[in-house]
Amino acid sequence: MTARTPLLAGNWKMNLNFDQSTALVKAIAIGIRDFSGVEVLVAPPFTSLHVVRQAIGDSSIYLAAQNMHWEKDGAFTGEVSAQMLIEAGCSHVILGHSERRSLFKERDEMINYKVKSAVSAGLIPIVCVGETLEERENSWTFDVIRNQLSGSLKHFVDEKNLPVSTILAYEPVWAIGTGRTATPEQAQEVHVFIRNWLTETFGKNASDQIRILYGGSVKPDNIKALMSNPDIDGALVGGASLKPESFMGIIKF
Ligand code: PGA
Repeated sequence: MTARTPLLAGNWKMNLNFDQSTALVKAIAIGIRDFSGVEVLVAPPFTSLHVVRQAIGDSSIYLAAQNMHWEKDGAFTGEVSAQMLIEAGCSHVILGHSERRSLFKERDEMINYKVKSAVSAGLIPIVCVGETLEERENSWTFDVIRNQLSGSLKHFVDEKNLPVSTILAYEPVWAIGTGRTATPEQAQEVHVFIRNWLTETFGKNASDQIRILYGGSVKPDNIKALMSNPDIDGALVGGASLKPESFMGIIKF
């Protein structure tokens, strides 16, 4: 098995002004200066990407956007392309977050276009999947996850090839922003399911290398237990990524 470098990613959602963003990034940059063995990423709102890129300076923090459109340019009012994100300094983009799926009606088909477009532009996609509470209570979790994976990655499934830099994130919807984290066992169980799906679909080599993050109420006090599972390769953190103390607590798990 290949050793997968843990990735701790902060999804800021629609939070933080320029000053707060700059202060947070500078604190993280100082916090990780003498720290190795993990990758750290922040995903600010579109309007802050440029200032955050400048605040990152020569620190190793990666910059991600929280969404993008699949077309390169054109009449798409309110949208931003992969090329624009690269110009703003992004290396990664979060796609198919459950808030995009539920609040903005993003379907797997759209997410598939976005993942394909991100990869061809040279961005690393962080593709999110996860079941709702109702789906879990009806024992539909694995069906939902399988459908989301095969739909959101359809282009790559058809090609039988997914770049190994692709990152997946398992985020049970019932655990996001609720303070109710999946237990490490619940998370590991779904991560194993995703890992097996990767092996069946893209082969063992890809499956060994692709990182699967857990997301949903990750905090400094539950990260260690989550990360002690072999198939949990990092975390996608919302609320606890907005303050240097809590995000650093997670990074230094
Ligand atoms: P949370 O959000 O950590 O606030 O639960 C996670 C996410 O939505 O990525």
